[in-house]
Amino acid sequence: MATIIAGVGSSHVPAIGAALDNGKTEEPYWKRVFSGFEKSKDWMAQTKPDVAIVVYNDHASAFSVDMIPTFALGCAAEFPPADEGWGPRPVPVLKGHPELAAHIAQSVILDEFDLTVVNKMEVDHGLTVPMNLLFGTPKEWPCRVIPLAVNVVMYPPPTGHRCYMLGKAIRKAVESYPEDLKIVIFGTGGLSHQISGPRAGLINSKWDKNFLDNLSKDPKKLTRIPHIDYMREAGAEGIEMVMWLIMRGALDDKVDEVYRFYTVPASNTAVGHIILENRRKAAGKSKRAPAARSKQAAARKVAHRIASKG
Ligand SMILES: [Fe+2]
Repeated sequence: MATIIAGVGSSHVPAIGAALDNGKTEEPYWKRVFSGFEKSKDWMAQTKPDVAIVVYNDHASAFSVDMIPTFALGCAAEFPPADEGWGPRPVPVLKGHPELAAHIAQSVILDEFDLTVVNKMEVDHGLTVPMNLLFGTPKEWPCRVIPLAVNVVMYPPPTGHRCYMLGKAIRKAVESYPEDLKIVIFGTGGLSHQISGPRAGLINSKWDKNFLDNLSKDPKKLTRIPHIDYMREAGAEGIEMVMWLIMRGALDDKVDEVYRFYTVPASNTAVGHIILENRRKAAGKSKRAPAARSKQAAARKVAHRIASKG
């Protein structure tokens, strides 16, 4: 069966993409940001997922105020990078997994989450920046990608609890897919930031760190946070953090935090990043063959070595 083995939380700051595309990664300001993802790229190279489900939000690239689905699942065979005003980013076209995506859509909709099925969609920095941060800048992306766009740009966005429960429904869907696929799920956006108005530039590191702590150890606590608290404490755009709860809902209740990185500022936002692994398989409850289990255990050991170096 297909299995979600880990979750990745990552900011998706557009200026990170611009720094990459314009060769600024070695400038001190940006080196501080990119260096925090070096271990993550090693982890991803060892983990080698077959598919990444990337939860992100569209920033008026594929959708507009004319039409914004709350949850939109990308079921296409490929997803080109969107033109966000400076031409499409020079990143490879993402290859989708239409069969698995259609399976997830069916399972989740029959579980009473009314996803919008999207068969043609361009993807913006919300998706491509985290891909770069975790996979680098390859000529072709090394795994298939299923985008899940969430409305966090126009009121009312979904609640954190709704997002968390959707994550659980996605996991159930994945685990009923017969092909033996290794899947990593991304939650992107945030952390605290506000891009306009009198509070533009707001960063609340204490809030962000508490969020990361609870994401790791007590995610249900986060599901009770109302929208107004995100906006008051983490800025108007801090509401993007509800998307991390879809990722977290798709994981075990207890997970291993193998890596965390936090730095401020990056283009007036707080950059946050976390890698969480499911424990279930390491505990030997997997239905996979012993050889597959030992491979996974070896990958986990590598991940722990990466984390302990930091
Ligand atoms: Fe965003």
